[in-house]
Amino acid sequence: MIDGKKVLFSGMQATGTLTIGNYLGALQNWVKLSDEYECFYSVVDLHSITVRQDPAELRKRARNLLTLYIAAGLDPKKNCIYYQSHVSGHAELSWILNCFTYMGELNRMTQFKDKAAKHADNINAGLFTYPVLMAADILLYQADVVPVGIDQMQHLEITRDIAQRFNGVYGDVFTIPEPYVGKSGAKIMSLQDPAKKMSKSDENPNASVYLMDDPDTIIRKFKRAVTDSMARIAYTDEQPGIKNLLDIYCACTGKTSEEAVKEFDGSGYGDLKLAVGESVVSALKPVQERFAELSKDKAYIDEIIKENADKANYYAMKTLRKVQKKVGFPERIR
Ligand code: TRP
Repeated sequence: MIDGKKVLFSGMQATGTLTIGNYLGALQNWVKLSDEYECFYSVVDLHSITVRQDPAELRKRARNLLTLYIAAGLDPKKNCIYYQSHVSGHAELSWILNCFTYMGELNRMTQFKDKAAKHADNINAGLFTYPVLMAADILLYQADVVPVGIDQMQHLEITRDIAQRFNGVYGDVFTIPEPYVGKSGAKIMSLQDPAKKMSKSDENPNASVYLMDDPDTIIRKFKRAVTDSMARIAYTDEQPGIKNLLDIYCACTGKTSEEAVKEFDGSGYGDLKLAVGESVVSALKPVQERFAELSKDKAYIDEIIKENADKANYYAMKTLRKVQKKVGFPERIR
């Protein structure tokens, strides 16, 4: 609890170009949560170097992502928006938690198995202990809730296991975080293969709509979206392409799937695709404009970065000092 509010932690990696999936599925939802919770939204750059990055590119992307958090509507005076690498407590707590995590547990992580297969030439220890760093992120702020997608649920479970194990030895040190369930953000699928999640690293440029795509590109990608030959607009798992288009439409307009189906009753797929594309264009417009504006204001963003790093450090240090004491590190002489 901070000032009577429950604490929420989440983060995103600044790798790849953000898609409307990241926005409609996560960011847009974060904005809605920011009144109810004391929120920490991190740009998790420590996590990013588990795979090789170009340094200049990583720095640029991290700054863009942080700017985008604000452009998407997160008030940086209310929400702690910061770089993970500016708070050394993440790495320090991560080390301690490593000593409370079993190899066997980490070996079971499906994301590790996937990434190890994908980066077979660089299966480094950081890739293996990635979930422990994520546990440190969450536990450092004594987070009560963590909004995560289904792909990160296993990491949240291991976080809870580590926290419970630590508390079992030393008493109630960590808050045990819960996944944020509730009206969850939409899960947006690829426009070219609706069985696959829309991904920022998809090789097919028509599969993903990027947050910074211009209106023409957006409309063109929707026109090419894969549908089916059933020639009817219904919201069902048998028509994953149409369902995805309706999900996107609803996420952009705030309508329910029933309302959307009714609205498109009798329309052809071409009309639907165009309408969905237009709804995306208008949902992204204010975000893109604000992003362009903010990007020009270096001093303002710098000030946000500094202020929020200080704030994050303050809370992180509180937990870290407590943990260090519990495990038996000597007291600091001041
Ligand atoms: N691993 C998450 C992802 O790739 C990002 C992340 C890092 C995160 N630390 C976190 C998400 C803590 C939630 C809470 O999506």
